[in-house]
Amino acid sequence: MNKILSFGGSNSKKSINKTLANYAANQVKDVELTLADLNDYELPVYSFDLENESGIPEKAKDFKALINDADGIIISLAEHNGMPTVAFKNVFDWISRVDPKTWKDKKILLLSTSPGARGAKSVLALMKEVFTRFGAQIIADFSLPTFYDNFSEEGIKNIDLSKDLEQKIKSFETSIKQ
Ligand SMILES: Cc1cc2nc3c(=O)[nH]c(=O)nc-3n(C[C@H](O)[C@H](O)[C@H](O)COP(=O)(O)O)c2cc1C
Repeated sequence: MNKILSFGGSNSKKSINKTLANYAANQVKDVELTLADLNDYELPVYSFDLENESGIPEKAKDFKALINDADGIIISLAEHNGMPTVAFKNVFDWISRVDPKTWKDKKILLLSTSPGARGAKSVLALMKEVFTRFGAQIIADFSLPTFYDNFSEEGIKNIDLSKDLEQKIKSFETSIKQ
């Protein structure tokens, strides 16, 4: 069975991005799901000196192993001042020190959401470019604006947004089963 890894690019315990990533992951049929939480991979702030003195922390290697093991990855990025959160950037930097080719050929459904009307579109565009430069295949991307208006436990309330995401999840599902 194909393996899907899903996580939010945030260390907020009530992360809306973790909620959105896991919601999307649960729609992918007949796959083995791993719903990761960046809080379980807390790492010291990356520093060249720390790496030289103490090496790469085990948790960075563990997170990289999750990525390696996945046939497809669903990430929903939180946006802090137009950029990824420190927590996500930190994990990204540490795993690049384990292996800079970690993301190569990985199939990614890239999402973002925020309470605001732009739905974290800036970080989505930025990281789409970065992941592509690292050799990942962005199968589709989707931004959900005004999370608290548009999302409920039953899913996405706005029909057009709901259909758009549904279709992108299907494309992602098809791509990982090829
Ligand atoms: C330091 C900081 C900066 C933020 N900057 C942005 C921003 O640039 N764009 C945006 O849409 N939301 C911004 N927000 C609001 C976040 O989108 C909001 O906190 C959201 O819940 C983060 O996602 P998460 O719940 O998955 O952590 C910011 C929040 C904080 C704390």
